[in-house]
Amino acid sequence: MSIEQSNCIRRFTRLCSDGYEQGWHEGNGGNLSYRMSAEDIEVCMPYMDAKGNPWIENGVTVPNLAGSFFIVTGAGKYMRKVSIDLHTNIGIVEINQDGTAYRVVWGFTDGTQPTSEFCAHLLTHSANVANGHEEDRVVYHAHVSNSIALANVVPADSRTITRIIWKSMAEAIIMFPEGIGALGFYAPGSTDVAHANAELMKTHRCAIWAHHGAILTASTFDQAFGMMQTLEKSAGIYTACRAMCGGTEPLQLLTDDQLRAICASNDIKPNTAYLD
Ligand code: 13P
Ligand code: ZN
Repeated sequence: MSIEQSNCIRRFTRLCSDGYEQGWHEGNGGNLSYRMSAEDIEVCMPYMDAKGNPWIENGVTVPNLAGSFFIVTGAGKYMRKVSIDLHTNIGIVEINQDGTAYRVVWGFTDGTQPTSEFCAHLLTHSANVANGHEEDRVVYHAHVSNSIALANVVPADSRTITRIIWKSMAEAIIMFPEGIGALGFYAPGSTDVAHANAELMKTHRCAIWAHHGAILTASTFDQAFGMMQTLEKSAGIYTACRAMCGGTEPLQLLTDDQLRAICASNDIKPNTAYLD
């Protein structure tokens, strides 16, 4: 077996390609990270070698991720190219025992470093571990057009965005019972966006970053893809409905009682802060 055949690398690569094919990753847009399980580490260990690579400051301190290994896309790299040239476009990094720095142990063969959003990814993984959501190992950021369009028009606050996503399509609330977080404008790749996003990720699994895209955390690569697709589809339905209504609020969105009925019949407990 080669490392390319390991489940974690194959599934990671597949999400990069699936997201690209959806049109979510123009240029180097978007990034992906995965906190490897003990089993993944055991399978990949024969291929990992720090080769004297330096420890590089994370920019954030994540003590509860000390010693963790992450598969991650490279800064400036194209999702389109991941399946074509794995070794330069993705890498595996190890976090040091203080949770302050990482070093490359596989991949990034052209000297690339992890995504410029690595701080946002690390703080999201850290929030997952802190909140007992260890099963959420995937963090995925995509430049999803309809979700960006939505937050260009309506206020980028979590309640407004959540209600639109829930009310535009019956099963969105089943996918996102905790709702959708929303952030206003932040410079991409900044530690400010990483910290603001981490606050939202303590209580949400998905957030829209105004003018930029969306980020979410999931337990599997398939779930991450499904969540991003659901968010983007619901945002697209709302924007289409609004255009059909001459730019005004669509009249027949799901009501709050209908949302409660969907939750009751699916045994879902929604975040009631976002219901009237
Ligand atoms: P990276 O190429 O550094 O991952 O940046 C892409 C991006 O989407 C930044 O938000
Ligand atoms: Zn981005």
